[in-house]
Amino acid sequence: MTDAPLWTRDDLAGLPGATLVGEPGDVSGVSIDSRTLKPGELYCAIRGVAQDGHDYVRAAFAAGAGAALVARDRAAEFAGAGPLVAVPDVLHGLGDLARASRARSAARIVAVTGSVGKTGTKEALRLVLSRFGRTHAAAASFNNHWGVPLTLARMPRGAAFGVFEIGMNHPGEIVPLTAAVRPEVAIVTAVEPVHIAHFRSVSGIADAKGEIFSGLEPGGIAVIPRDSPHHGRLAAHAGASRAGRILSFGEGREADVRALRITTEADASFVEADVTGRTVAYRIGMAGRHVALNSLAVLAAVVALGLDVGEAAAAYAELAAPSGRGERIRIAGPGGEVVVVDESFNANPASMRAALEALPLVPLPAGGRRLAVLADMGELGETGPAAHLGLADAVAAGRADLVFAAGPLMRGLYDALPASRRGAHAASAAELEPIVLDAVRGGDVVLVKGSKSTNVSKIVPALRERFGRDGTGGRASAGGRG
Ligand SMILES: Nc1ncnc2c1ncn2[C@@H]1O[C@H](COP(=O)(O)OP(=O)(O)O)[C@@H](O)[C@H]1O
Ligand SMILES: [Mg+2]
Repeated sequence: MTDAPLWTRDDLAGLPGATLVGEPGDVSGVSIDSRTLKPGELYCAIRGVAQDGHDYVRAAFAAGAGAALVARDRAAEFAGAGPLVAVPDVLHGLGDLARASRARSAARIVAVTGSVGKTGTKEALRLVLSRFGRTHAAAASFNNHWGVPLTLARMPRGAAFGVFEIGMNHPGEIVPLTAAVRPEVAIVTAVEPVHIAHFRSVSGIADAKGEIFSGLEPGGIAVIPRDSPHHGRLAAHAGASRAGRILSFGEGREADVRALRITTEADASFVEADVTGRTVAYRIGMAGRHVALNSLAVLAAVVALGLDVGEAAAAYAELAAPSGRGERIRIAGPGGEVVVVDESFNANPASMRAALEALPLVPLPAGGRRLAVLADMGELGETGPAAHLGLADAVAAGRADLVFAAGPLMRGLYDALPASRRGAHAASAAELEPIVLDAVRGGDVVLVKGSKSTNVSKIVPALRERFGRDGTGGRASAGGRG
């Protein structure tokens, strides 16, 4: 049996305030990007900050769009270009499609928020829940005012499970998103000073994360981090919602899902946990204490859904680090192998600390060095300078031999390091790149991390190019083992 079309012509015609122009047929998918749209999909002309999707309606039809969802007052511009679904507002139209998707779905829905660990937890849930049935989750973070409705609108009719990442930069943003998702299980992974610039305090962040419980279905289950100083606040939000039960996770005795032991190796972690009274031991296919801690939240969700915990835990062996989030990249060059720990997708104080502290877990060949390439962490407001300076002990704990720092905030950390650990500082990641490329040599382990906005991620392909291709990383280095 093949799936029915994702959305039929009648579904589109039934959107509030919709008028059909031309004759749209059924559509096989939903897209907001003409460059990645597949033939037969519905193109939604979302207006963003810098771009207006209406500028790409013709490109979407050229790419084979089955129909375009456009603003009513713009529809005349696309006469003859292709079939249109004209609505008063495209983002609202996408939201209506999202709500219709949720309403018709029999899938069991899990929503994930938190200051860190959302995407990793979403991916782990995708892996685990796929063992029990067809699981829908976004390929990327897709956790904002368009990402969440888009992911909902894309949920296949036959999905057995749906996993939704929900993010926020400001108070109040999660409320409408969780209302659309209507989760049966809602998880808060962690509460940390991320996006603190928009908040008065970390407890303000806890309150904003706690908003996720407002969308819980009646009798749903709230999953909260028991070791967080803000767990009481989160529990209060859950208590004020329609949640039927709270499940906590952590290392402390009070947690319902509790780690008894966590050990980490170069490429794996091992967890022994008490899962609501049952002891479960499992292997995780990637290193990191935080991954192990997040796995407790995932198992709490598994308990909440009434699924087999042993089966779920066994799935964790297949987990691999997503790109830019701890992925190990081995680059073989004439000077020896360089191991890049690619954490360059993004950074905040908690994840920066976790990444630095995990550095000693990567095996270091004789004569090899640990290099940390660190770029500024953004959106920290007034707390920025102290948050950067405060990483000095994590640099020491991570036994980083040399730190290469980029950006004005990282300057503070760099200057606070002992001279022997100072590799170089540059104003930007782009200016730091050639310095790093010249410094790296065979045997080195290189951590690359910083906020997305710094573009520090570009250093990873540059290392691959330079070192992997002609091996100058080995040749150029003084005292290299080449
Ligand atoms: N519980 C945690 N505590 C500290 N750091 C974490 C935790 N979970 C994940 N991280 C780190 O945070 C970073 C972002 O992880 P990710 O799962 O993409 O989070 P998000 O989607 O919330 O931004 C990664 O570097 C990851 O290693
Ligand atoms: Mg994310």
